[in-house]
Amino acid sequence: MIGRIRSQTSEASKFLVDWMEDRTGIVTMLEHFLYEPVPKRGAWLYTLGSATLFLIVLQFITGILLLFYYVPTTDHAWNSVYYIMHGVYFGVLIRGIHYWSANFLMAVIGLHMARTFFSGSYKAPREMNWVIGVILLLLVVGLAFTGYLLRWDQDGFWASVVGMKIGSYSPFIGPYVIHFLLGGDVAGPATLSRFFAIHVWLLPAVLAPFIGIHLYLLRRHGEFGAEFEYTDRLTKLRESQQLEEFARYEADEGEEIERE
Ligand code: HEM
Repeated sequence: MIGRIRSQTSEASKFLVDWMEDRTGIVTMLEHFLYEPVPKRGAWLYTLGSATLFLIVLQFITGILLLFYYVPTTDHAWNSVYYIMHGVYFGVLIRGIHYWSANFLMAVIGLHMARTFFSGSYKAPREMNWVIGVILLLLVVGLAFTGYLLRWDQDGFWASVVGMKIGSYSPFIGPYVIHFLLGGDVAGPATLSRFFAIHVWLLPAVLAPFIGIHLYLLRRHGEFGAEFEYTDRLTKLRESQQLEEFARYEADEGEEIERE
């Protein structure tokens, strides 16, 4: 199993790879994690899920770095963002990556969803992976929505207020959810605290295990349309056809014996 990674490393590092494998088994583990057969046709489209994962990891890393300077209070939030942009080393870069990868994430997750839809990956036995995917989509949209308010400028503030106003018209639960998000009747310090807690703690903490389940289910069933799936299915089909033929033969034999 330790073949592919080992064959791609130089002679000098082969010793290190073998040593690590012997002591920890990490190389075999990585091989299991990284290699997944995909169908020959449209193979590039099967990278969209990994691209989504990459962008989410990037969001986690840059988000944690932003937390070193961001202050989640109404009187300091905007100033701390301004300071990140103008006073902190690489602040513009880190915030820029966080902002743009959030935008790309929305596009890439949509494309990934479209690919899984058009390849029919939501069908049996992958229904649960589709359902988990929808939950992931809602969590990512929640992250985008709550992140917008955190900079506490006119743009973010009013976009969030309008968003909540629209949400408040949802039947039954709308008003309660919005009241909870606002932390009162109007947007203020409590709203910022709640959005911060949801953006930085709640949603990432829920998102991470759901991504784990998504990847576990992917490993369990493999990519839709990969060759092994067809081979498996064809073998099963042939087996069932042979069984049917045999049953028919048995029935015919029985009839003949009865006639004699
Ligand atoms: C946090 C967001 C998500 C991450 C990190 C993620 C990650 C992945 C990865 C790495 C794969 C395997 C590679 C690939 O097929 O592209 C995959 C497959 C899959 N994803 Fe996602 N995904 C996310 C969101 C979604 C959404 C929104 C849906 C649909 C509602 C979805 C449905 C699926 C399905 C059905 C598969 C199996 C594909 C197949 O077998 O052909 N995922 N996902």
